[in-house]
Amino acid sequence: MKLLERDYIVRATVRDPHNLKKVKLLLELPKADTNLTLWKADLTEEGSFDEAIEGCDGVFHVATPVDFETKDPENEMIKPTIKGVLDIIKSCAKAKTVKRLVFTSSAGTVNVQEHQLDVYDENHWSDLDFIYSKKMTAWMYFVSKTLAEKAAWEAAKENNIDFVSIIPTLVVGPFIIPSFPPSLITALSPITGNKAHYSIIKQGQFVHLDDLCESHIFLYEHPKAEGRYICSSHDATIYDLAKMIREKWPEYNVPAEFKGIDKDLPVVSFSSKKLIDMGFEFKYSLEDMYKGAIDTCREKGMLPNSIQHHATGQDKELLPSPSKNNANGQDKEGIAS
Ligand SMILES: NC(=O)c1ccc[n+]([C@@H]2O[C@H](COP(=O)([O-])OP(=O)(O)OC[C@H]3O[C@@H](n4cnc5c(N)ncnc54)[C@H](OP(=O)(O)O)[C@@H]3O)[C@@H](O)[C@H]2O)c1
Repeated sequence: MKLLERDYIVRATVRDPHNLKKVKLLLELPKADTNLTLWKADLTEEGSFDEAIEGCDGVFHVATPVDFETKDPENEMIKPTIKGVLDIIKSCAKAKTVKRLVFTSSAGTVNVQEHQLDVYDENHWSDLDFIYSKKMTAWMYFVSKTLAEKAAWEAAKENNIDFVSIIPTLVVGPFIIPSFPPSLITALSPITGNKAHYSIIKQGQFVHLDDLCESHIFLYEHPKAEGRYICSSHDATIYDLAKMIREKWPEYNVPAEFKGIDKDLPVVSFSSKKLIDMGFEFKYSLEDMYKGAIDTCREKGMLPNSIQHHATGQDKELLPSPSKNNANGQDKEGIAS
């Protein structure tokens, strides 16, 4: 959408261009009729990106399989993520037209380790031994993204591809897809009471979806962009977050206590200094992110207008579980009550 707004000619890849339920929103975007084409490609099918990439100036590799409850993490998430990026690098090398490949990495490649630092930057990498030993919520996602980004750096070097990676923290904001965005399962967990996700935002970092999209294009276009770039505008503990939600949306009765999580936990910061020093400006506040996400969920009937469960002592998960994520092409549904 952001590329079309800037008059780029866009080839979007999807797994099934004929699945109108999923692609309709793309075809209806402003300027789509003249500037957008859809191409069939799948990260698990070798060479399937060749055709779409051939002749392109730039490539954004955003897709990733996400299913935190998969029974086969190795084959359903880890391998396809690594093989997918390597395959796309090969397609870029074959095309010979691609000036830059921008890869959407993840904060999960940076700070998943036993002892949290005060500040993280692009030099930090997650501790794979720690992840495998703890197997915390989303562990296979952290492994998949870390191994994929590391493999991509090697392969990009070997194939002489101008490769830039962007490291977003938790992405929150309004959305146009008809299904429930997986990151909101985590971001809205203080509202829904999905405790399994508290560990991810206990000492959290956040970025607005629109800031993140803008940063992708900014780095694609910037002649000096090079290496990894953290893209994160706000740091907050789960207590800071809960306080903000309680003040702005008291109707959700977000708790003031989170059992087992220390109230005095320090904020862990992700530094976007490298990106800001290049001239990038973040536009949105943490409240903007949550307002965008909550308003869209309400409009789409994925979140009720109020929740009493914390007040009555009940703990109910109101949002879909990540197992229903779209890695299998399933739609996700929220609960409207
Ligand atoms: N959201 C966040 O908070 C966050 C934070 C940091 C980094 N990221 C990164 O941002 C990117 C987008 O994440 P997201 O939150 O938008 O996730 P998402 O909603 O699950 O989107 C992932 C996309 O990947 C596609 N996909 C999955 N398996 C595929 C395959 N085998 N072949 C081709 N496409 C496949 C999915 O297609 P379908 O629509 O057909 O299912 C979906 O469009 C990912 O690289 C993720 O690691 C996200």
